[in-house]
Amino acid sequence: MSLVQEIDYGTPRVRTEKTVTLTVDGQPVTVPEGTSIMRAAMELGTKIPKLCATDMLDAFGSCRLCLVEIDGRPGTPASCTTPVANGMIVRTQTERLKRLRKGVMELYISEHPLDCLTCSANGDCELQDMAGAVGLREVRYGYDGAKHPNPGLDESNPYFTYEPSKCIVCSRCVRACEDVQGTFALTIAGRGFDSVVSPGMQEPFFSSECVSCGACVQACPTATLNEKSVIQIGTPEHSVVTTCAYCGVGCSFKAEMRGDELVRMVPFKDGKANRGHSCVKGRFAWGYANHKDRILKPMIREKITDPWREVSWDEAIAHTASEFKRIQAKYGKRSVGGITSSRCTNEETFLVQKLVRAAFGNNNVDTCARVCHSPTGYGLKTTFGTSAGTQDFDSVEQSDVIIVIGANPTDGHPVFASRMKRRLRAGAKLIVIDPRRIDLVRTPHVEAAYHLPLLPGTNVAVLTALAHVIVTEGLVNEKFVRERCDWDEFSEWAAFVSEPRNSPEEVAKVSGVPANTMREAARLYATGGNGAIYYGLGVTEHSQGSTTVIAIANLAMATGNIGRPGVGVNPLRGQNNVQGSCDMGSFPHELSGYRHISDDATRAMFEALWGQRLDEEPGLRIPNMLDAAVDGTFKAIYIQGEDILQSDPDTHHVAAGLAAMECVVVHDLFLNETANYAHIFLPGSTFLEKDGTFTNAERRIQLVRKVMAPRNGFADWEITMAIANAMGFKMDYTHPSQIMDEIARLTPTFAGVSFEVIEKLGSVQWPCNEKAPEGTPVMHRNGFVRGKGKFVITEYVPTDERTGPRFPLLLTTGRILSQYNVGAQSRRTENVLWHDEDRLEIHPHDAEQRGISDGDWVKLASRAGETTLRALITERVAPGVVYTTFHHPNTQVNVVTTEFSDWATNCPEYKVTAVQVTPSNGPTRWQEQYEELARKSRRVAASIEAAE
Ligand code: SF4
Ligand code: SF4
Ligand code: SF4
Ligand code: FES
Repeated sequence: MSLVQEIDYGTPRVRTEKTVTLTVDGQPVTVPEGTSIMRAAMELGTKIPKLCATDMLDAFGSCRLCLVEIDGRPGTPASCTTPVANGMIVRTQTERLKRLRKGVMELYISEHPLDCLTCSANGDCELQDMAGAVGLREVRYGYDGAKHPNPGLDESNPYFTYEPSKCIVCSRCVRACEDVQGTFALTIAGRGFDSVVSPGMQEPFFSSECVSCGACVQACPTATLNEKSVIQIGTPEHSVVTTCAYCGVGCSFKAEMRGDELVRMVPFKDGKANRGHSCVKGRFAWGYANHKDRILKPMIREKITDPWREVSWDEAIAHTASEFKRIQAKYGKRSVGGITSSRCTNEETFLVQKLVRAAFGNNNVDTCARVCHSPTGYGLKTTFGTSAGTQDFDSVEQSDVIIVIGANPTDGHPVFASRMKRRLRAGAKLIVIDPRRIDLVRTPHVEAAYHLPLLPGTNVAVLTALAHVIVTEGLVNEKFVRERCDWDEFSEWAAFVSEPRNSPEEVAKVSGVPANTMREAARLYATGGNGAIYYGLGVTEHSQGSTTVIAIANLAMATGNIGRPGVGVNPLRGQNNVQGSCDMGSFPHELSGYRHISDDATRAMFEALWGQRLDEEPGLRIPNMLDAAVDGTFKAIYIQGEDILQSDPDTHHVAAGLAAMECVVVHDLFLNETANYAHIFLPGSTFLEKDGTFTNAERRIQLVRKVMAPRNGFADWEITMAIANAMGFKMDYTHPSQIMDEIARLTPTFAGVSFEVIEKLGSVQWPCNEKAPEGTPVMHRNGFVRGKGKFVITEYVPTDERTGPRFPLLLTTGRILSQYNVGAQSRRTENVLWHDEDRLEIHPHDAEQRGISDGDWVKLASRAGETTLRALITERVAPGVVYTTFHHPNTQVNVVTTEFSDWATNCPEYKVTAVQVTPSNGPTRWQEQYEELARKSRRVAASIEAAE
């Protein structure tokens, strides 16, 4: 194996149909108009020496190394900044050019410390390469670099160092931070010889605005910005392209290795979701794979108060199977179930639901999408006919107006946010609908045209008010609606939204958003060109989550913003493979491809291939499993890669449900919070240790490639297979590609998908079948999947969760950039330096009323429970609203969230909880009791014996 080498063309690709032909060193080449000479030469394989250019960034023209001669033109222009022209004759290698380039390199080298042999970038340094490329043999001005400014080594960032003495002031880092990441954290301070790269106001990286995305490190041609892991381990020698296991953006990375040690993750330029960019999690936060907390041996125990006992894999699998069989024999076939993981691969997820349906013989299978995007599935299936977003990420480059509702992309989906910000800087308009002043409302060089800071729980009212404006002001795209939608349903909907009670003026009273802001925002979306809507859990995690998704779809259809690039309805999916886990049939009522279990023909297809009759009754959802456990009818569960105790609402109820079961099997990397209630622990494998596929938020199926052997001995799909076999249901796959072949046989939207096809195309977006052999980037192009688009009336029903004298504030929850979800992975990395506790954001007015100062411990209480955490006083939240993250188990914020949920899907109403906040001086009783339980529950007999 060798390092995957990507060609650097020097300047970005120009996208235009028009081409020009020129000659470079006697060879003709045809390229799109506007291409640089440097790129045209590289198309021929001619590498013009360069330092300040890279194809991730627009040309800058500062280093003067890439000079060329052009017939008929005076001087030696820079090839990176000079565009091609028809008939142009270019020479890249003449005596004059050689002399000039050597002169330039002499100046650079005389300013550079000559410690190449001990430099961490030795062998991976463009300055070194260029010295070789121009044939530099002497430096007339000395080597000491004495004049070079050197403010000293900055090691403040946990993942990379900044060594200014090695800087050649090419500005690649500054431009990467601006153009690729959109953070604008870096500047060049000083002039001439005193020029130096400066984070913020000459601060250390860690305390600057830097969000640690790594784009500058990637862009730096020298060791000035370098990964600490490279400094510690050495340069990598082989690499494998794989897919990030954190969020639904699905960034592609080269896992660069030395032997079987991972050296660094480098974003892959050919990755169609990320186009060579990354965020701090995928780029740097992979250390959890080797964290000491990782459990590598299976363990069992009789009671949850017993210490764990390490056992062999054979014993663990046999015990799991016998427990499930025993419990089914005693309490009935439907007394057991399973939860699939949105962090695992499609193939692993498919096997877990197959295990439940075929080996357990019931449909009690569910997934974490229950608690995040199940309303997306319901809402988009109802209106458009498919439970998924309509666009690819590239589409945003053609949007003119972007609505972001209930999402915080700069924290939750950072790489997509960078792509969106780039489009906004280029002129697209932004409307933010969110209770908080999220970063996008105002961030460097981006400002929302309108921010609608609605009260949590009023999404439906506000979206219906926007529709009111569009219909009553004659802004409907009637041609689109007549051609593509059911006109009668539209007419009914139009009459409903036109009612005066749905006007912005009326809705302002419940939502708190000024009527005029709603009117202006609606006009902009309807008339501003290509309108795209991006949304997140602030839409779905409500008692009217499904209604809100439907309201979004109504808006898109009414304005004709569906079925072409630049528009659409785009859920920003949370976990890396939550789209995939839904596609794979993880819901109790649906087989893969969203086909209802009660459909005889679909079931017959699965039964024929699996050789097993399937139950036609939909099974239990996660909350119903827990209810049934408390009622004594549900007794055992297999949970793969999911920490329901921390992630699901109303922790007391989850704990009671788990505690009531006779056998809880947790299959995970770590002894997570749910494992405190488990009887069997099966160690899981990381994404670095297995083959498979993930499907991102754009329906893009991408390969996850094994980088190293599983440290626990087996990939997760092998463990599920072993359980099925031990239960008497035969599974005999030898590679995940065979599982995907089975998925393709059984699922019409995946019919054309195979590992070979993905390997060939790089990735593929479903539907991928005979009609679309290379996949479907944009859906509903010539008609909706369901036939006619369906308008549905969206009556606003206020949540039952109301504020009152006891609980006067509204709590809403969300994520932060550096941590991920329950934090199982990201908490076990240096990312804790940015966020080592959950804080409660509270408006200064509410804080003052309660005598709370910044950093004080406060008690957060609802009718469900109470917890304590520290306060962060900020105007990001409106008066009356408080906000927190849920990444840390010691906070257990879901102790406070309630049992209310979406009417259609049971998705919990995480985003609206009536609470009170009071000063506190210590943990709550629950926190103390839980800490004691967790401490006891994590004891392992082997280590206890060793200690004795
Ligand atoms: S790591 Fe990212 S955010 Fe930080 S300075 Fe570099 S490019 Fe900017
Ligand atoms: S830090 Fe690296 S990328 Fe930035 S100016 Fe210096 S050499 Fe160029
Ligand atoms: S944006 Fe998401 S997929 Fe991309 S690197 Fe970050 S966490 Fe990974
Ligand atoms: S690469 Fe063209 S001027 Fe630096």
